[in-house]
Amino acid sequence: MNVALYNQSLSSLNADLTVEFVTPAQFETHPHKVLLTQAGFKAEAEQLCTLHEHRLLVCALSEESSESYRSTMSSALKTAMNYAYTSLKVAIPKETFLSALVEGVLLGGYKFESYKSDPKKTSLKEIMFANDSASNFSALETLFNQSVIISKATNFVRDLVNQTPYDMTPQAMAVTADSLASSNNLECTILDVNGLESEGMNAMLAVGRASINPPRLIHLAYKPSNPRKVITLVGKGLTYDSGGLSLKAAASMVTMKMDKAGGCAVMGIIKAVSELKLDIEVHAFVGAVENMIGGNAYKPDDVLRAKNGKTIEVRNTDAEGRLVLADVLGYAQEKVKSDYIFDYATLTGACMVALGPYTTGVMGHNEPLKQEWLSAAEQSGEYCGNLPFNRHLKKLIKSDLADVCNVSSKPYGGAITAALFLDNFIDEDMKQKWVHFDIAGSAYTESAWDVHTYGGTGAGVRMSLNWLMEQCK
Ligand code: BES
Ligand code: ZN
Ligand code: ZN
Repeated sequence: MNVALYNQSLSSLNADLTVEFVTPAQFETHPHKVLLTQAGFKAEAEQLCTLHEHRLLVCALSEESSESYRSTMSSALKTAMNYAYTSLKVAIPKETFLSALVEGVLLGGYKFESYKSDPKKTSLKEIMFANDSASNFSALETLFNQSVIISKATNFVRDLVNQTPYDMTPQAMAVTADSLASSNNLECTILDVNGLESEGMNAMLAVGRASINPPRLIHLAYKPSNPRKVITLVGKGLTYDSGGLSLKAAASMVTMKMDKAGGCAVMGIIKAVSELKLDIEVHAFVGAVENMIGGNAYKPDDVLRAKNGKTIEVRNTDAEGRLVLADVLGYAQEKVKSDYIFDYATLTGACMVALGPYTTGVMGHNEPLKQEWLSAAEQSGEYCGNLPFNRHLKKLIKSDLADVCNVSSKPYGGAITAALFLDNFIDEDMKQKWVHFDIAGSAYTESAWDVHTYGGTGAGVRMSLNWLMEQCK
């Protein structure tokens, strides 16, 4: 699907179908009110009505907000894709709603059909945005190009997450990173098992040991000439999480190809940053590993020595993401001195229990920094919720045998105790510069919501670009 911005009014553009947003107040004076009413349209939230004889798709808008424009545009596009129209036009009412409309189209119109032998064809090819906002066109163009880059990076993440564990192995993730590096002029370093051994990354190695698909550590770097800041991103890249010997129940194992979503997100973020040519140096690290069972699998009762020297008592091999992150965080901090370190991980089912299935959990020691992220998320259309640390929760991961235990002694607050485990692998001088994002709920969906269809959502990309672009102002 092609999206284009025109410095023309809606009426002067030629398209098969026009999308029109109507608030309850506007409906009262709508020229087609009688016809729409006959069709059962009442301008109630999420109602859509197609007047084919007028080539008009009328969409009820509950309020004039980015959130409504984004999800209504997305529903409108899905509806239009069912018809034979080849082009569609829509007016930009105000500059501030442009990115919501672009996301509604590009994210809402996303389909993943690589595994379908006969994918349904859509006639819709061209989406035209008209400048009815009386805004300066070059300002609109800048916003438009930014939104297209960010939306496409989000879809790039979705494509990776949606691939099967057979196709998207740690090795395949490394190949993907390498080709991203070539196309976007990034530096790329890959460590294989030998490399991980010489770096002392025994926790990550233990998790991957029983798989026939050996682990890879991926490091992508975007280095503009005079960066304002240096930022490190770390992603959990479990290409499959069977739970290991603490095997998941059959029903919980389904969807665990999505356990690589954090790793995919950091690749999508660095892709967008490099295409936007942001004045920030960004390093993206991915721990790509498969957690399987086998005669040489790591076990509950094992004690692992992580890269930073700390020992970990393993009591549950399904709490594997934190073991991988422990080593990747250690490696990232050793290799790159940065102003901030952010990690993205589908870390705990507990995060979904705490915040619901749509919201990313935000954890860390720096309250103002977390607040910056909560507002970046809100502006970008992603949902984030703050999950606070306290010193009592920290005691729940004490070990009698080693320095720390990989699971909590109590069944509540699991998202926070997982983050407090990671805290053991954050260097003293980085404590205030670290934020952890638990995307277990937000990264994947089996039922459509907002701009998301079945599968990976690309969680983390939009909010991170919002925060990063804020640093460049
Ligand atoms: N990858 C899972 C977390 C997860 C669960 C992500 C559901 C998305 C949906 C993680 O590795 C895991 O299994 N965590 C355990 C931790 C427990 C053993 C302490 C969990 O959440 O049950
Ligand atoms: Zn697990
Ligand atoms: Zn996992």
